[in-house]
Amino acid sequence: MHTLKDVKNTLPASWYYDQDHYARELDAIWYRDWVCVGRIDSLEHDGDYMVIRLGTQNIVVTRVTDGTVNAFHNTCRHRGSLLCRESEGRFRNGRVICPYHTWTYSLEGDLLATPGRIETGDFDAADYSLYNVHVDTWRGFIFINLSESPESSLIEFIGKEADYLQNWPLDQMRSVHQEKFPIACNWKIFWENYNECYHCPRVHPELCKVMPVYKKAVFDPADFPDWEPEFDGDTGGGAVGGGARTWTMNGEISLPMIEGLSENDVTRGVVFASITGSMYIVGHPEYVRSVRILPTGPETVELTVDWLLPSAFEVEDKQDIQSIIELPRLVIQQDGEVCELNQLGLRSDRYDSGILVPQEYELWHFHEFVRRKLAAASATSAIEK
Ligand code: FES
Ligand SMILES: [Fe+2]
Repeated sequence: MHTLKDVKNTLPASWYYDQDHYARELDAIWYRDWVCVGRIDSLEHDGDYMVIRLGTQNIVVTRVTDGTVNAFHNTCRHRGSLLCRESEGRFRNGRVICPYHTWTYSLEGDLLATPGRIETGDFDAADYSLYNVHVDTWRGFIFINLSESPESSLIEFIGKEADYLQNWPLDQMRSVHQEKFPIACNWKIFWENYNECYHCPRVHPELCKVMPVYKKAVFDPADFPDWEPEFDGDTGGGAVGGGARTWTMNGEISLPMIEGLSENDVTRGVVFASITGSMYIVGHPEYVRSVRILPTGPETVELTVDWLLPSAFEVEDKQDIQSIIELPRLVIQQDGEVCELNQLGLRSDRYDSGILVPQEYELWHFHEFVRRKLAAASATSAIEK
């Protein structure tokens, strides 16, 4: 049992819309932690790039050599022009060329040429490399960290969550389908909603059919002291039941099973790994879903959902993968709707903060995380001053 023993207040309402507070959270959390920006398999050739907008920052991630990536601010060192206008593309001949005065950089960010510049003796190109950003990969996912000196390595940052999906061959999987979901809510609203199932009986009737435990407004039978045999098949930690084997509309598996899964992985039908605030990955017996979250403003967020299958699986017809797309898409749309209602309602002048119910214990941990990160950031900025 993890449930909260007493009533706790939520975070202050203004933290969900105030522009200055949003800037503090960007600095304390999003610009200091590792943030997943995509899959390595989406950069197929050397020189392929994607542009990521993280808060107010614009970052280019490019494939340098086979499987190795580099990331830099999308800003020229001459007078600060944007380097890439498109959201993705390919740098030809391994060169990043500024569209303004043609300063030319390598994919690693070295300044190679300043065409047409009148030579002077005091100019050293080595002083004007692109502003590189820390970048690393974990099992096919690319992460960036905007801090000049990250507090932890990527693997330390992911921590024990990495273990939950260890049997899924994530690095040998590729995205067969991607959808983006812009939602008009603060990023914390979406994360809070993801972290409770109090809303599930009302909001997700279709999901509750494959996850009977969710009908009781909890994630995990262990949260519910006298859970009943109707949750047959649930082996703990929240699992499929009622005859369902996976997260599809009819609960059936219609694609090849992923090899290497344990009996427990298969029986549960769903295993989550969460990276607080920015991402979660869900393993099912026949597919994996990753959901990335990026704040785009104080009251807006963009989700990017990828459906991953083993690389060897050839999708000849999108119809083949409809079964795995339909239910998660519906669930995200349902979540998006209530998140937007939540955002609109907390704008009331009378609402200072709400309260958590016992099964919202993960929200309490998340709120503690946000408070801790804000406190740590204001302590370091006080030292810097
Ligand atoms: S701003 Fe890029 S070359 Fe001038
Ligand atoms: Fe939900």
